[in-house]
Amino acid sequence: MGNSDTGESGVERNVERNTGRRLEGKVAIVTGASRGIGAAIATRLATEGAKVVLASRKIEGLKAVAEQIGDAALPIACHTGKEEQVDGLIAETVATLGKVDVLVNNAATNPYFGPMMNVEWGAWDKTFEVNLKGYFACARAVARHLLERKAAGSIVNVTSVLGQMAAPLQGVYGMTKAGVISMTQTLAAELGPSGIRVNAIAPGLVETRFASALTGNPEIKQMVLDRTTLKRIAQPEDIAGTAAFLASDDAAYVTGQTIAVDGGWTVT
Ligand SMILES: NC(=O)c1ccc[n+]([C@@H]2O[C@H](COP(=O)([O-])OP(=O)(O)OC[C@H]3O[C@@H](n4cnc5c(N)ncnc54)[C@H](OP(=O)(O)O)[C@@H]3O)[C@@H](O)[C@H]2O)c1
Repeated sequence: MGNSDTGESGVERNVERNTGRRLEGKVAIVTGASRGIGAAIATRLATEGAKVVLASRKIEGLKAVAEQIGDAALPIACHTGKEEQVDGLIAETVATLGKVDVLVNNAATNPYFGPMMNVEWGAWDKTFEVNLKGYFACARAVARHLLERKAAGSIVNVTSVLGQMAAPLQGVYGMTKAGVISMTQTLAAELGPSGIRVNAIAPGLVETRFASALTGNPEIKQMVLDRTTLKRIAQPEDIAGTAAFLASDDAAYVTGQTIAVDGGWTVT
């Protein structure tokens, strides 16, 4: 797999993604898999040999991605902020595919853009429900399943660089993403003795619908590019390789970590 991107500097970059088959025999659940980063991660995990359950609220989008992936994909509708739906997701996965080995928590929302001082409780509750309670509900349900099976496993939480620093105008979202990093560390500590690894990926700006208000604004896009050492905006596939690594035994001794995949944005 590869893509060509000349980026802002005009330097041609051929990104060759040489995938292996590191996930043969594994079953993975990817939330928020109907588009964007989740769809790219699900596709990559399937390419590496996993059977992949695609989860999000709307079945139509999931079916479209599943069709692209082929037999390895199983779409299941699930609102990850609703615990009973999360339990149903795990139960249906186990009933159909026999087990779960890998969870990628990726479904998130960001309904409010503006100063924290003005946020309304409705937007606050929604953000925390999906981004934090939803991640925890999925992680706990999968961890319980792994503990019952006495099986090792990998949980990958997609957070954000905005969880690692001040996030003006996206402060509530940033708080939930900081919470995900804390959750990652504590779950890693508590579940490590049982062979369950828990890590996080912190993307910078990625070209998806979620970020279209930012990537579609030339001034904001330029501001991000100026600070990004690799001088291009990430594509969803840039995140997928790190997710596959963390899901696989290549990361067998990696747990509790948050890996920034941001083109160098946070080092400048
Ligand atoms: N794009 C960026 O610049 C960027 C940067 C840093 C971090 N991230 C993180 O990367 C992850 C994916 O972002 P993205 O840019 O790929 O977003 P996206 O294109 O908007 O996709 C979001 C996905 O989440 C699903 N979703 C939303 N609410 C849900 C809910 N309550 N229950 C289940 N699924 C739900 C959506 O499907 P349905 O509508 O069918 O539910 C969709 O599949 C998020 O965690 C985001 O915070 C993104």
